[in-house]
Amino acid sequence: MSNKDLRDKVSGRLIVLDGADGCGKTTQSKLLRQRLQAEGVPTSSFRDPGDTIIGERIRGILLSPEHLAMSTQTEVLLYMAARAQLWHERIAPALGEHECVVLDRWISSTCAYQGYAGGFGTDKVIRLAGDCLEKVWADLTIILDVDLAICATRLPGKLDRMESKPAEYHKKVREGFLKLAGEHDGFIVVDATGDIETVHGRVVEGVVSFFSGEGAAG
Ligand code: TMP
Repeated sequence: MSNKDLRDKVSGRLIVLDGADGCGKTTQSKLLRQRLQAEGVPTSSFRDPGDTIIGERIRGILLSPEHLAMSTQTEVLLYMAARAQLWHERIAPALGEHECVVLDRWISSTCAYQGYAGGFGTDKVIRLAGDCLEKVWADLTIILDVDLAICATRLPGKLDRMESKPAEYHKKVREGFLKLAGEHDGFIVVDATGDIETVHGRVVEGVVSFFSGEGAAG
């Protein structure tokens, strides 16, 4: 695909990188944004939850190890609230300028963590998102899949409240992501084993082949 074709295909599109804690999506989101910009595609990237004053405050509440009493229902509502604000303040204006928006997590995370691993129900998450967000699904969601033992080596020394959940929970999160990818259009699963550059190459390949193929969501 030429640079111009890529620019035409991904301008005004939402691309999400998602996966279990330690899968490498933050690094890969940054690299993807840099790569698209280098190809001449105006690109913004944001993290969910976060990247607004309100969203960063909600993120602090969600991830504080002091808030062990938080219920799954509360998690769902807070993640969704931060996301609605991110959409309103940052994503909608960027898409309005025909930028490509690369997101570090989105509703796919709420489906896998709270919906599947937390038992809230993925369908309920999707219904709630439909009521709260103008766009529930990204045009393309890339799930970075990697063995949880490898993920653990990529995590920081001090874990936040979500990262500290038991191994069984994180196993279900991984399963939840794979299930979601199998059940919905607009998802690809990328093997996130290996070094940063190798995984970046797979991500770029995935983006190009998705948007050049029939799979591109309108
Ligand atoms: P991050 O550290 O990858 O930015 O994500 C923050 C944590 O929040 C991470 O452990 C995943 C979790 N999370 C959910 O449980 N549900 C969600 O909807 C989102 C977006 C993140």
